[in-house]
Amino acid sequence: MTPVMSAALEGVEGLAVEVEVRISSQLPRVDVVGLPEAAVRESAARVRAAIGSAGEPFPQRRVTVNLAPAGVRKSGPGLDLPIAVGILAAAGQLDAERLTARLGLFGELALDGRLRPVRGALALALALRAAGCRQLVVPESSGPEAALAPGLDVRAARDLGAVLAHLRGGEPLAKARAARPGEPGPGPDLCEVRGQERAKRALAVAAAGGHGLLLQGPPGAGKTMLARRLPGLLPPLEPEEALEVTRIHGAAGRLPETGGLVVERPFRAPHHSASAAGLLGGGTPPRPGEVSLAHRGVLFLDELAEFERRCREALRQVLEERCIVVARARTRTVFPASFLLVAAANPCPCGWRLSTLRDCRCDDAAVARYAARLSGPLLDRIDLHVSVPAVPWRKLDAPADGPSSAELRERVAAVRARQRARLAGAGIALNAEIPAGALDALVDATPTARALLGRAVDRLGLTARGAHRVLRVARTLADLAEEERVGPGAVAEALDYRGTSTRPPAGG
Ligand SMILES: Nc1ncnc2c1ncn2[C@@H]1O[C@H](COP(=O)(O)OP(=O)(O)O)[C@@H](O)[C@H]1O
Ligand SMILES: [Mg+2]
Ligand SMILES: [Zn+2]
Repeated sequence: MTPVMSAALEGVEGLAVEVEVRISSQLPRVDVVGLPEAAVRESAARVRAAIGSAGEPFPQRRVTVNLAPAGVRKSGPGLDLPIAVGILAAAGQLDAERLTARLGLFGELALDGRLRPVRGALALALALRAAGCRQLVVPESSGPEAALAPGLDVRAARDLGAVLAHLRGGEPLAKARAARPGEPGPGPDLCEVRGQERAKRALAVAAAGGHGLLLQGPPGAGKTMLARRLPGLLPPLEPEEALEVTRIHGAAGRLPETGGLVVERPFRAPHHSASAAGLLGGGTPPRPGEVSLAHRGVLFLDELAEFERRCREALRQVLEERCIVVARARTRTVFPASFLLVAAANPCPCGWRLSTLRDCRCDDAAVARYAARLSGPLLDRIDLHVSVPAVPWRKLDAPADGPSSAELRERVAAVRARQRARLAGAGIALNAEIPAGALDALVDATPTARALLGRAVDRLGLTARGAHRVLRVARTLADLAEEERVGPGAVAEALDYRGTSTRPPAGG
């Protein structure tokens, strides 16, 4: 008897699962084997009730359901439907000509036989497509998401009875259609921000080379306004990226009701009170957190110093590895987390230190404690540090100025193409990703530029990691200027982005 093809969600990936059912002539009971999670075990009860509601007798013999591959934990109630169909086929109540390896099914059953949507329908559909399925039968409200998977005939069913009619060659199920993707909107424009030329330049550098950015300045200086304009400087999502982002957001249960492919680069701005699980991913079964929802887009951490210590520490690793491992007692789930980081911070608890507009009311100890939370290893992994002073009123009142987001986006795209050509051999796409060992070969700094960096290392006490950051940023600056080699000008500007927070104390 051919197994019924289905899939379960593992993190943000679908995992193809074969449901095998055997019926033997022993006392009536149902066993589900193959490392089922609690939800799968409960599925036996739902399946029994749903089969009854569909007007089918439940076999009064021993039913053994095996979920393969056995070594993987399967979570989620989406296996209800294939288990029900498998039981009826094994009992001989369903002469399933269509029940082949080319047909995949998933869906949660309600006691009355209705089909409930499952989380991660796109991920499941992609896994079934990769496993060789050509037609899928899914719950009605999962249809539009599953139909985003290319190359599949997706049929949507309201309840178990409709699925059985379809499989018996009676009334065929209607085809599910993906909602039409929206056009990416224009988003807020950078030219709406008055002044802040240095910060705007840094935004363009961040977008061009994939460099993390820290904006430091008093309240109201426009840090949030600037950060929100970063996605608008990035090239639009490639089709595969859009599918990947949609899959992740679907697995998190975060796709909008209207459905359709996610076509905008994500912009996520979790509050600093966010829990570690909310920010990094977690729960049972583990769901992706904000760092994964920001994958391929921008993660904005406002008031960076206020985030929980363990969140700040975990971020270091996420920035380096571009993914996050969520470990539970018996599971280890890897979530993608490759995003552009923009962080904002006040220079002190009250926010007005270093400002000429107001006096800072913080005592030295409070300022030192605050700086300690910001300094060190995390900031060392953020390539660009810029101070954002408050803009005087006469500038705020002036007409819009500076380049528009569309102009910058075009330059960013050109600079990214230059990088791709140079870095493809190393298997990376952006200057920010150049590994330390490849810097010499891929940055190509002139002797004068190297000498300048060497003097800065001695004078400022730069760490090796700090010097590497300077080189990566200088490479992007040279690319923006369309220069083959990195000269002293690029190194000098890159040194400027080291920022105040990592400099040794003044007067020292
Ligand atoms: N440079 C600027 N150009 C135009 N408006 C600004 C600028 N800076 C601040 N504003 C105005 O002040 C408001 C607060 O800015 P915001 O970005 O929230 O500051 P911050 O995040 O630094 O506290 C903005 O909504 C905007 O109306
Ligand atoms: Mg703000
Ligand atoms: Zn202060």
